[in-house]
Formats: sequence, C-alpha cells, structure tokens
Amino acid sequence: MKNSEIIQKDLQYNWHPCTQMKDHEFLPMIPIKKGEGVYLYDFEGNKYIDAISSWWVNLFGHKNPYINKKIKEQLEILEHVIFAGFTHEGAVRLGERICLLTGFDKVFYADNGSSAVEVAIKMSFHYWKNKGKIKPLFFSLENSYHGETIGALSVGDVGLYKDTYKEILIKNVTIPIPEDKSEEKALQALKKARKIFEKYHKEVSALIIEPLVQCAGYMKMHHPVFVKGLKKLCEEFEIHMIADEIAVGFGRTGTMFACEQAGIKPDFMTLSKGLTGGYLPLSLVLTTNEIYSAFYCDYEEMKAFLHSHSYTANPIAIAAANATLDIFENEPVIENNKEKASYIWKNIQKFKELPNVKEIRQTGMITAIEMIDYPWQERRGLKVYEYGLKHGVLLRPLGNVIYFMPPYVINYDEIDKMIQVAFEGIIKAEKI
Ligand SMILES: Cc1ncc(COP(=O)(O)O)c(C=O)c1O
Repeated sequence: MKNSEIIQKDLQYNWHPCTQMKDHEFLPMIPIKKGEGVYLYDFEGNKYIDAISSWWVNLFGHKNPYINKKIKEQLEILEHVIFAGFTHEGAVRLGERICLLTGFDKVFYADNGSSAVEVAIKMSFHYWKNKGKIKPLFFSLENSYHGETIGALSVGDVGLYKDTYKEILIKNVTIPIPEDKSEEKALQALKKARKIFEKYHKEVSALIIEPLVQCAGYMKMHHPVFVKGLKKLCEEFEIHMIADEIAVGFGRTGTMFACEQAGIKPDFMTLSKGLTGGYLPLSLVLTTNEIYSAFYCDYEEMKAFLHSHSYTANPIAIAAANATLDIFENEPVIENNKEKASYIWKNIQKFKELPNVKEIRQTGMITAIEMIDYPWQERRGLKVYEYGLKHGVLLRPLGNVIYFMPPYVINYDEIDKMIQVAFEGIIKAEKI
C-alpha cells in the first residue's frame, strides 16, 4: 500500500484529535506502517525519530521486545475481566509494586489520563462530603493542563482547549505560577498563592498541580520549592493536593516521580502515559489509607466511591505496566537519562545565539526551546514541524515552543540528529 492511498481513505472516514482537519488540505497526514526503537516508518520506507514519544507515552521504544513478550504472554492467559467483585494476578502485582515504589497505600484504576483526573477530583470532593463538608471548588494553576473531559478541562487553564466550553465547566480558582524556574520567582508566587488560599480555602476540596513541568502548557517549568510551598499551604488550610504526574512521572523530570524533588507526598497522585511504556491506555490514582477510610463503612451509609469504567484495570494494559516496571528495576534507566539529559543541554546552548530564540530550559529529559513571541496566527511552530518531518524527525511544537521528550532508548547519534534538525527548523521558521 502507498502513503497516498491510506491518506485518502483516512481523510474520508477518520476525525483526528487536536487537529483542524482542513489543515490536511496542505499538510500531509503521515501514515505509519511500523515502529521500532525511536523510529516510526511510513509505507514508503521514510523514517522519523519520535522526538516527542508519541504524545509523551513511549519510554523504551516502539516494538520493545520485552514489553511485546509480556503482552503476548498475558494474551494467552486472560484478556479482560470485570474488576468489580473480581480481580486478577497482574493487578495485584501492579498494585503492590506501585504502592511500594511511591509510598502510597491504595490504587484506583482508570483507563486514560483525563479519567484519572476525574477520579481524583471526585474522590477528593467525595471525601469531604463523607466527612460532612461541602467544598465545591478546586484550586489549579495558571497555564495548567489536566486533560479534556469536562472535569479535567475545568481544572486546566490553556485557553486553546478550554475557552470554547467555559459555559459548561465546573468552577475553579486559578493560582498564578512563578515567572520562571528560579527559586526567587517560586517564593514570590507562593506569597500570592497564600492570599488566594486565605480567601477561598473553606470552599476548596483540592489543589491540582503538574509538579515541576507544565507540559501541555508550553513546557513551562518551576522550582521544586514552589511544589513544596504549595503542599505546606494545603496542609495549613486543610486542602488536598493532587499531583498530576501523568506527563512528568516515570523519570521524565530526572527522578522517578517529580514530587521526589520537592520532598513531598501529596494526598493523590495520578499516573498514566509512560505507565504502560506507551503501549496501552491505563491510568492510576494513588492515595492514602486516610482517604480510603472515609469511604469504608457499612453499605447503608452510602459512602462508597462508585466511579467505574468498563475496562478498569485491563489485564493486557497491566501486563504492559508490569513489564515497564521490570525494565526500571533491571536497568539503570534514571542514571542513563542523567547523562543523556546533560548531553542534550550541552548541545542546545547554540540555540541561544539564534535571533528568534527567547529561552532554552530543561528539567530532566524534558527540554524546551522557546522562540520569540511570534503572533500565534503566523504558526511558526508549524514551520518547524514541517521542516522536522521533511528531515526525519517528529517534533510537534506547542505554539512557539519546540521541545524534546524522546523515548529513553534514544542514542547519542539520534540525539545529535534531533537537535540539528530542530536547530535548522528554527532558523527556517525565522524566514517566512
Ligand atoms: C498533565 C496531564 N494530565 C492529564 C492529561 C490527560 O491525559 P489523556 O490524554 O490520557 O487523557 C495529560 C495529557 O497530555 C497531561 O499532560
């Protein structure tokens, strides 16, 4: 089959996410035939380095032999079973492993990032209700992103996704973020946050935060002191903290979880994306015995948490998650990433000399290059995207921000190529 045949059929029937479909009148869809390691291959043999891990999900490469093997083994045993009244071996193993790894006590399963956020905000609200308090508001951060179902969108703040739906969203209160990654700006932002806590705390169930990096929010980064300070405020004002580590968890920020760098344990943590190594949709909400116990009582008290999804704790997805944890246990992933991250940082210093680059920043394996404030209508990031594809690298800029979030198996030659193509693309984007 040729690329063109697939594209034609695709556009006839499929409606793609996060896409103005009319763009495909000039922007070719890329049909992917197979993946291997960091590469995606189209039907005509062109290959692309997946520098964004296919929306930040892939950790150990496409078609990873070990994860493939574990999924195949699971397929021979059990594909799915209802998770109410029934359980299975993989879920028992994953539950125990993830609690030991994170220090949480309980795991609730859902099947994508947004659903995990829905679960966490409902669970927090429901906890307070079970304790006799109605707290209908949530605190979230300026520029945050937590997914696109109605609840998750409500606690987000990226206008591009949110503004259209403002009339049907639940209420939340937005807290300003630090202007940059410095400790000084973090402390300034915390002062503002305190005032907002003082004003609203009685009505607020939880604060939700993407610790250290707001990924969909143009890869804005903040100092760990900000996360630590917000946790202290949450404790002082009796508000839960939900750490949304859906994008930043599993080593992306340089530690297994971003909260480790702030030295905090939130009341809830949401995980997804890298959880299955980028293979299958699965998400988790981790919480404490303290939260769990507020729901644990005789049935007649009607305090149970009744949220459910048909595919809760799907055994095949869980096999992929257990395989992913095996790789973390058996290989020095975080250590190797440290070297790769410093290599990337060293090699992107040259971007600072480009006249259209405003800032470069990095947290662990997340690296961002922000171009100057071009008007969004000029779509300069799209120029970099197009240049990248023509030269074998999948970059998917967020507005004027070009970023790298590659699978951890990327080697040094591939890093060089990824950086070089981005560099040339940014130069090209200046000249339209
Ligand atoms: C921090 C964060 N939370 C939640 C989500 C939503 O996850 P999903 O796309 O699986 O619904 C995302 C997705 O990018 C995210 O980055």
